[in-house]
Amino acid sequence: MNGDAMSTTAAPVSAGSVTVHQVSRTFPDGTQALAATDLTVQPGELVTIVGPSGCGKSTLLRLVAGLDEATTGSIAVDRDSLGYVFQDSSLLPWRTVRANVELPAQLHRLPRSERRQLVDEAIALTGLCGFERHLPRALSGGMKMRVSLARALTLRPRVFLFDEPFGALDEITR
Ligand SMILES: Nc1ncnc2c1ncn2[C@@H]1O[C@H](COP(=O)(O)OP(=O)(O)OP(=O)(O)O)[C@@H](O)[C@H]1O
Ligand SMILES: [Mg+2]
Repeated sequence: MNGDAMSTTAAPVSAGSVTVHQVSRTFPDGTQALAATDLTVQPGELVTIVGPSGCGKSTLLRLVAGLDEATTGSIAVDRDSLGYVFQDSSLLPWRTVRANVELPAQLHRLPRSERRQLVDEAIALTGLCGFERHLPRALSGGMKMRVSLARALTLRPRVFLFDEPFGALDEITR
């Protein structure tokens, strides 16, 4: 806990854990998406957040990922080892499937051979073999989400944030 009520801090914590303490988020238009929210996730734990549309689930995940800043409260998570699957696939339309999946490894400047291996594994794991050279526009909605999933898996992060990643997939693929 920190005493500064006007800012969110992201203190490094034990790898794989997430601690959200008294977090609120009010947008500039006055919409309060979150109020006094607490959440603790231990390493190895799988937590599902359930609630009606618009109740603040995506907002909470974005705050944990550091994509948005809370109005009050504190968040402790190791953001150096964090994978995020957005509610929509959020692929770069000009990059092939392979290049999209490879992006996090490129940004982390991993050597080419290591990148190749990690990307191969993520593509195989998500059933995308044979589609590596396709552009996102040539994929189905479910395939795009699988590319997004593969991209999040590539660096084998300790914390995964999934924002309804299986919504576009049929039950069996899910
Ligand atoms: N950038 C923003 N500016 C203003 N209001 C926003 C913004 N982002 C989200 N909101 C509002 O915050 C509330 C929570 O939105 P959020 O996307 O977190 O909901 P959700 O629980 O993920 O919903 P869904 O299940 O439909 O994805 C909603 O009322 C939404 O309109
Ligand atoms: Mg949402």
